[in-house]
Amino acid sequence: MQYRQLGKTDLNVSRICFGCWQLSPKFWGDISIDEWRGAVLRALETGVNFIDTADAYGDGEAETELGKFMAAEKLRGKFVLATKFYWNFTQSERFPDTRHDHIIQACEDSLRRLQTDVIDLYQIHAWDALTRPDEVAAALLRLKKEGKVRWFGVSNLNVEQMRLYNRHFPVDCLQPPFSLLAREIEARELPYCLDNRIGVIAYSPLYRGLLTGKYKPDHVFEDSRAKTPYFYGKPFHHLLNGIGELGPLAEKHGLSIPQLAIRWVLTHPALTSAIVGIKNADHVATITKAAEAVLPQDDWHRAAGIIANAKAGADKLLAAGD
Ligand SMILES: NC(=O)c1ccc[n+]([C@@H]2O[C@H](COP(=O)([O-])OP(=O)(O)OC[C@H]3O[C@@H](n4cnc5c(N)ncnc54)[C@H](OP(=O)(O)O)[C@@H]3O)[C@@H](O)[C@H]2O)c1
Repeated sequence: MQYRQLGKTDLNVSRICFGCWQLSPKFWGDISIDEWRGAVLRALETGVNFIDTADAYGDGEAETELGKFMAAEKLRGKFVLATKFYWNFTQSERFPDTRHDHIIQACEDSLRRLQTDVIDLYQIHAWDALTRPDEVAAALLRLKKEGKVRWFGVSNLNVEQMRLYNRHFPVDCLQPPFSLLAREIEARELPYCLDNRIGVIAYSPLYRGLLTGKYKPDHVFEDSRAKTPYFYGKPFHHLLNGIGELGPLAEKHGLSIPQLAIRWVLTHPALTSAIVGIKNADHVATITKAAEAVLPQDDWHRAAGIIANAKAGADKLLAAGD
């Protein structure tokens, strides 16, 4: 496993981060907790020391499961622990809430569920248009002063939003979507983070599994992906063909397609880590190699070109309503 300093923080994190969204039944259905626990232990054995969750995953369920398991196995000290706040899910319908009192309460709730005294990286899950940045900062700086959080991150924010927060508190890390199929942040957010030494931990590096190339054309997803564009119908079939074309390129470097897809993300110089949604120990087996491989510049662009073509075709089919 390889490690990187996360931005300007003192956190030395593995290039693969263990993502816990898969513990949200609403999105991923019921996964086997025993298998998931096995995967956490296996990830630790392979050198993964970074784990990402959120209070909203399963409305607290993911943090509760992780907290129980960390306590039972005495794992807390072995992980850099990242979680997020933003959603107020105390009412029947959740809504964005980064007001001062909600942040303080959300942090207390996360600490209790995670059975820990301190969160290493506390992240704002998305942009809340209605709360002033100085109010957000007041809550975060209070939590830091009280020793309950160590560093601050943001997720799904653009450059202007990061800049605005940065005037009030240090933004140490960005958590954006980034993969061969989601490259929107390349133009502005990644250069901004490089320039300001803000760590970048990319989520959905496998585009929720699609970039593994492991699904057959007749595959029917039984979780929230069933209704997600690209995961069904003609666009899905078109993308599967394109992703299959990555095979020879992956082989050339002794990699599988998912390894190539993760390596592609990690090759960008702004990237600290890739957050992979892991459900079982088999998933873990793949990732160490992805962290350690080398993808030369020409083949990085070749892979990007293959998937850009496939995506353009899939987008045309989507626009035509296919
Ligand atoms: N900040 C945010 O807004 C945000 C949003 C999304 C995700 N995240 C974070 O990022 C993490 C990862 O994102 P993600 O779950 O969307 O996408 P992902 O990591 O791109 O894809 C996860 C899916 O890929 C498949 N998979 C994972 N590892 C594999 C392996 N080694 N070999 C073969 N298949 C593998 C599994 O699919 P199958 O289930 O089909 O086996 C898994 O459910 C989440 O767990 C969460 O921590 C954050």
